[in-house]
Amino acid sequence: MRVLVIGAGGHVGKAAAAAFAAQGHEVIEASRSGELPVDLRDEASIAEMYRRSGKVDAVVSCTGSVPFKPLSELKAGDYRAGFEDKVLGQVNLLRLGLDHVSDGGSFTFTTGVLAREPIPTGAAASLANGALEAFVMAAAAELPRGLRINAVSPGVLEDAPGYHPFFPGFEQVPSDALGRVYVKSAAGIQTGRIFALG
Ligand SMILES: NC(=O)c1ccc[n+]([C@@H]2O[C@H](COP(=O)([O-])OP(=O)(O)OC[C@H]3O[C@@H](n4cnc5c(N)ncnc54)[C@H](OP(=O)(O)O)[C@@H]3O)[C@@H](O)[C@H]2O)c1
Repeated sequence: MRVLVIGAGGHVGKAAAAAFAAQGHEVIEASRSGELPVDLRDEASIAEMYRRSGKVDAVVSCTGSVPFKPLSELKAGDYRAGFEDKVLGQVNLLRLGLDHVSDGGSFTFTTGVLAREPIPTGAAASLANGALEAFVMAAAAELPRGLRINAVSPGVLEDAPGYHPFFPGFEQVPSDALGRVYVKSAAGIQTGRIFALG
């Protein structure tokens, strides 16, 4: 498969890209500072990325930034910023990518454990993750040409120790196990699924 991985330089994206490469798939890496530049907050930038990438068999998004603040400090602008980055960014990746993915190909989004297990300061992130997971369920039912969509919803990564203090007692996810789930989503037949780890 030709696999377009957005955010391939990050904690999650590295795990996904490594797993696809290990199984012999061609990986095209994109991010704001990458060789194939894209900013998911900018529709024109997404369209240009697809024009340059050519047709792919799978689009894998490993991005999404949301403000973390106590509930009493979260302003409308914080929720809006998280929605526009993590939710709309990935939704636009699907909207603008439909004609650039081969028949039977797939989109895989990244959400996260906060959709099902809250932490203090995480309300905007829980909201974004839950919204994306609901979108995946709905979009799967309407996609044309056998296209599929799933989300990977990881817990905190073993390889992201900076986040560990915010997830006390949470199961930590090994990067190799995480990477394999992205491959399962892209290479399998499942659609509308939320693959939860940790
Ligand atoms: N790390 C964890 O333990 C963990 C656990 C569960 C869920 N998640 C979720 O996984 C996603 C990625 O997390 P991460 O920890 O891997 O983040 P990260 O290490 O900060 O990496 C983010 C990646 O996305 C790219 N990126 C950021 N903003 C972008 C944009 N607007 N357009 C295009 N590319 C962009 C970055 O590259 P550039 O700077 O070059 O753009 C980078 O490659 C997030 O949604 C996070 O909530 C992470």
